[in-house]
Amino acid sequence: MIRSSVLSILALGSVALASQDDFQTKCAQFQNKINLPHVKVNFAEYIQGGTNLSLPDNAPSCDASSQEVSVDLCRVAMAVDTSNSSQITLEAWFPREYKGRFLSTGNGGLSGCIQYYDLAYAAQFGFATVGANNGHNGTSGKPFYHHPEVVKDFAYRSIHTGVVIGKELTKMFYDEGFNKSYYLGCSTGGRQGWKSVQKYPNDFDGVVAGSPAINFVNLLSWSAHFYPITGSPSSDTFLTTADWQIVHDEILRQCDTIDGAKDNIIEDPDLCDPILDTLICPRNATNTSKCLSGAQVRAADQVLSPLYGVNGELLYRRMQPGSEVLAAPIMYTGEPFEYSLDWFRYVVYNDPSWSGNFTVKDAAAALAQNPYNIQTWDGDLTPFQKTGGKVLHYHGMMDQLISSEDSKEYYSHVAETMNLPPQDLDEFYRFFTISGMAHCGDGNGAYGIGQGVDTYASSEPGSNVLMAMVKWVEEGVAPETVRGAKFENGPGTPVEYWRKHCKWPKHNVFKGPGNYTDENSWECV
Ligand SMILES: *[C@@H]1O[C@H](CO)[C@@H](O)[C@H](O)[C@H]1NC(C)=O
Ligand SMILES: *[C@@H]1O[C@H](CO)[C@@H](O)[C@H](O)[C@H]1NC(C)=O
Ligand SMILES: *[C@@H]1O[C@H](CO)[C@@H](O)[C@H](O)[C@H]1NC(C)=O
Ligand SMILES: *[C@@H]1O[C@H](CO)[C@@H](O)[C@H](O)[C@H]1NC(C)=O
Ligand SMILES: *[C@@H]1O[C@H](CO)[C@@H](O)[C@H](O)[C@H]1NC(C)=O
Ligand SMILES: *[C@@H]1O[C@H](CO)[C@@H](O)[C@H](O)[C@H]1NC(C)=O
Ligand SMILES: *[C@@H]1O[C@H](CO)[C@@H](O)[C@H](O)[C@H]1NC(C)=O
Ligand SMILES: *[C@@H]1O[C@H](CO)[C@@H](O)[C@H](O)[C@H]1NC(C)=O
Repeated sequence: MIRSSVLSILALGSVALASQDDFQTKCAQFQNKINLPHVKVNFAEYIQGGTNLSLPDNAPSCDASSQEVSVDLCRVAMAVDTSNSSQITLEAWFPREYKGRFLSTGNGGLSGCIQYYDLAYAAQFGFATVGANNGHNGTSGKPFYHHPEVVKDFAYRSIHTGVVIGKELTKMFYDEGFNKSYYLGCSTGGRQGWKSVQKYPNDFDGVVAGSPAINFVNLLSWSAHFYPITGSPSSDTFLTTADWQIVHDEILRQCDTIDGAKDNIIEDPDLCDPILDTLICPRNATNTSKCLSGAQVRAADQVLSPLYGVNGELLYRRMQPGSEVLAAPIMYTGEPFEYSLDWFRYVVYNDPSWSGNFTVKDAAAALAQNPYNIQTWDGDLTPFQKTGGKVLHYHGMMDQLISSEDSKEYYSHVAETMNLPPQDLDEFYRFFTISGMAHCGDGNGAYGIGQGVDTYASSEPGSNVLMAMVKWVEEGVAPETVRGAKFENGPGTPVEYWRKHCKWPKHNVFKGPGNYTDENSWECV
């Protein structure tokens, strides 16, 4: 029985190989049908599900020379002029098993890289999916140098252009067109999602925006300000990664059980206000490998404090406690942070010799410039709300690159600007705090919420943010919690336990009985 059905599938497969089926023919002919202004199609090719797609054109710094594609699809690659001196590289992936939905992916950092893994992820769920290179290739900010049109693509135009063209192509490719339009992105991708909500309220019906790099200019000032605090590795204010491990252990000692569970996860870093003076080496200490100097403790305190501007105004909230070990090798290295350095050199000052010796005067200069309103901080979402759009915002509570406190600040900013309490915002805007999630993934906790191909553990809407958004938009059923998987040993390994993450401003509390691994022993209060 099983054997004969396998044989008949194989037989069908060989027929399909021998002659193109309708879908393959449509894909092969699609290139010649496309006649849109500013669009030059490079190729359209059929990709069979199960292909390990080779990406020889991807810039080496994007660090992705191949992508596994799990479903049959038509891949269309284009160049689109965005001005007379700028262009984006755009891909549209049209799956054979199409579900009538359009989706745009986003980017990361200062790149410059089509996120093929996100294209593959959305196509696997039947979305007609687009992804663009954000106006330049590679991860460096150098292409911004004396090139405002490239900055403009990065600030908003790449995504919007990809959406406008992508929707046209989707209608051309599928006779039935599409019904709903979605967005999925994290980090810079989260900022791009918010930019769409703020600036192009009709682009999407549903936006999933993770760990967003909003308050963007201040974010880069904030990540520039760690270097002057710690100094170089030879400074007496510098902490090694081993020292940051000491700080982290002390923070966990003081804060891990505030939520009722000792599980190496701080559910609510906003309830954690660690006192690090306990780490100062005692006078009679014979072994100082487990303690710090006063200067080091002061530096750690400053790293975990907000950044204020020249007039004392808040620019960026503190790094949330709990992220120290992951942040140390990226942010507290004793050298200027690379993205900040690039931003100040190639955008703020157009001066490649800028040293990285940041002061708050630099923050003021950057904020005054705010090119193309890349800040992405508009608090009035009324136009988006009026279209009936929905936005699901999430942030990892141990994010080592973009403090989750900034997402909380933005939530308050929207609430106060629109004069809406959480129960009214809930109608179209919901924010979920994902404990134990580092930057967009990884971490100590249940971070597998279906935000990408690496963190996919379930397609059930309750346990998958993308499918939760589809359900919210198409059935009007909004998510109350976001369920995440804790993997035994990182992505791809079995699920050790699940945890339901709360909708802000609720806090997750361990009620028992039993183990913290039991998701039903937790309650959002
Ligand atoms: C896909 O191809 C790349 C490069 O040839 C290789 O490194 C990678 O392991 C392959 N992936 C799979 C799943 O086979
Ligand atoms: C290119 O565009 C800029 C800005 O829109 C314009 O000022 C300039 O004249 C254009 N140059 C050419 C060669 O068309
Ligand atoms: C759009 O929705 C309508 C009504 O539910 C349905 O009949 C149609 O098939 C959908 N179109 C697509 C492209 O999914
Ligand atoms: C980016 O790379 C693609 C593929 O190699 C190339 O076609 C395109 O011209 C590049 N774009 C820019 C802005 O350099
Ligand atoms: C240091 O002094 C404290 C308080 O007097 C004492 O409890 C502790 O044992 C001493 N430690 C060492 C290593 O001598
Ligand atoms: C100091 O303590 C650390 C950690 O407990 C230990 O690994 C190390 O061997 C100790 N060093 C000395 C000199 O006792
Ligand atoms: C920052 O300034 C200090 C003191 O002038 C100098 O020693 C250091 O090299 C500078 N850092 C960088 C990255 O230029
Ligand atoms: C709870 O589960 C963890 C992980 O499975 C285990 O290490 C721990 O011993 C359990 N604790 C109790 C009290 O059962």
